[in-house]
Amino acid sequence: MTGQILLYGGRIVTAVGVERQDMLIENEHILAVGARLSGDAPQATRINVEGLTLFPGLIDVHVHLREPGGEYKEDIFTGTSAALAGGITTVLAMPNTNPPVTHRDTLTDVLAKAATRAVCDYGFYIGGTLDNAEEAARLSDAIGLKLYVGSSTGTLLVDQLFAQIAHLTRYPKDRIIAVHAEDEAAVQYYATRGRRRPPICAALAVSHVLTLAEQLERRLHICHVSTGYELALIRAARARGLDVTCEVSPHHLFLSTEDEQRLGALGQVNPPLRAREEVDALWAQSDAIDMIATDHAPHTLDEKTGALPPSGMPGLETMLPLMLDAAHTGRLSLSDIARRTSTRPAEVFGLADKGQIAPGYHADLTLVDLDEAWTIENEGLHTRCGWTPFAGRTVCGRVKQVYLRGKRVFADGDILAQPGDGHPVAQS
Ligand code: DOR
Ligand code: ZN
Ligand code: ZN
Repeated sequence: MTGQILLYGGRIVTAVGVERQDMLIENEHILAVGARLSGDAPQATRINVEGLTLFPGLIDVHVHLREPGGEYKEDIFTGTSAALAGGITTVLAMPNTNPPVTHRDTLTDVLAKAATRAVCDYGFYIGGTLDNAEEAARLSDAIGLKLYVGSSTGTLLVDQLFAQIAHLTRYPKDRIIAVHAEDEAAVQYYATRGRRRPPICAALAVSHVLTLAEQLERRLHICHVSTGYELALIRAARARGLDVTCEVSPHHLFLSTEDEQRLGALGQVNPPLRAREEVDALWAQSDAIDMIATDHAPHTLDEKTGALPPSGMPGLETMLPLMLDAAHTGRLSLSDIARRTSTRPAEVFGLADKGQIAPGYHADLTLVDLDEAWTIENEGLHTRCGWTPFAGRTVCGRVKQVYLRGKRVFADGDILAQPGDGHPVAQS
């Protein structure tokens, strides 16, 4: 796409607040932001966005796209379509596919698939195994390294100290290691006693990996923190100087064990939904949370209602509406949302030109109607799994349009992008 576009009349969310401002886009980038820009750009195509609020396109650092091997529940096209429908313009995809993304060949394969099928921008993690530390460290086109120190969906598991140390010492110090932190021995111990992954499993693993990171002097990212105790451990490690970041998933903020009664296996996820007091603790300590990431983990309804339901639930299309609703009721500000879903993820992962509405950045924009109340339903979702644990919930705030590098890719429920319009992110 060439030429200039002027989005006028909208309200722009910045790090400090919300301002009524125009925006001038040239090709893929934001050229200018300011009051009354129309005089500066007589040639620009003018688009009225009055009544809409503009967020920097959301960046979800934790997404399971299921391709290869699980295309019957999601593939790169349906998953990235669901992302756009949820206002997410960049996804970082997890390696627990079938086969898992653990070596040069599987990474090359998935990058090639995304190049022709993705409709939003993307990066792929390399998965750690017991014996791939050297190779993983060399794969600079992976977005980061994912370590499962406890088992979850798929076969990836690095529960042996020698391999954990190998990864933490070999992986480049400036790059991200993201950890699924549930202690495998504790998971097994409690399973034999009929308890699914109680909070002690996460507490043990977070404390273990923080100790390793501190002793081995490297940064770390903790995935899907689900308890106040984990946040307390992270805070204490930061106070001692460790560079540790963390994410919380929307289902741990907006669902609890009370919902599990109603949801049954649809509410089964690793780490599990927690008691109401833990949910309250996450909200109360939200200043320690760097980012919100969906952990979008689609499984079919047949699988979820079968005899051995897999863990995980979809989240791409509901994260922003749920957060807008929380902002509506005063639980957080619009700037908090922009920081935790775009600015901070871009900073932590070093994503070039992403994470802010400012000149020089990509024109990745999520336009929402803050006042539209609507009821989340299974019908009309873009994720191939076709259900959401939030069906029936009425929220205030809806994604209306999405721009990806200057091109309108989603409007009023429809994906306008073509497969392959998504690009791999660049890391600085
Ligand atoms: O519940 C989960 N599902 N937790 C994970 O860590 C993996 C995910 C999946 O891939 O299904
Ligand atoms: Zn996980
Ligand atoms: Zn996950």
